Amino acid sequence: MILPIVAYGDPVLRKMGEEISPEYPKIQELIDNMFETMYKSSGVGLAAPQIGKAIRLFLVDTSGFVDEDEEDDEGLKDFVKVFINPEILEEDGEDWTFNEGCLSIPDVREDVIRPEQVKIKYFDRDFKEHVEVYDGLKARVIQHEYDHIEGILFTDYLSPLKKRLLKGRLSNISKGKINVGYKMRFPKK
Ligand code: NI
Repeated sequence: MILPIVAYGDPVLRKMGEEISPEYPKIQELIDNMFETMYKSSGVGLAAPQIGKAIRLFLVDTSGFVDEDEEDDEGLKDFVKVFINPEILEEDGEDWTFNEGCLSIPDVREDVIRPEQVKIKYFDRDFKEHVEVYDGLKARVIQHEYDHIEGILFTDYLSPLKKRLLKGRLSNISKGKINVGYKMRFPKK
């Protein structure tokens, strides 16, 4: 089932996500629905707050970064994962810039600087614990989605000037004054 994606301005995007247990109601169905929703909107990641649930759950599929005939040096095509109750243990490496976007903030893309490497502890969808290290684009998507479950959006990292320039567009998004190719839910006016 495709779920509406919560738009910028909804308070749920600002909540600290709560940890969940394997007994969380219909967790497997929720994960399947989130994958379906992410693919429908051509996203490379989706976090639970973006479908209206302030819980510590997000998923990624970075195959969208690689074209059919392109070489997949980083193994992005097969990077499909569910992160439950994740905890970033360490960020390392050089800071680098990447032009980020977000399904909750359609048509806005901005450069964001983050460290290149991340060490993360998490549970998979079978609630098996893992500790893994990722870098490059995999780390980037993880950092962006992890921020979502901490109530942080990529626009928070922009300079005061950039924020001011974006204000009108962000306000239009929260009012639903945008054309978007997937189902969204806008904050009540
Ligand atoms: Ni996002």
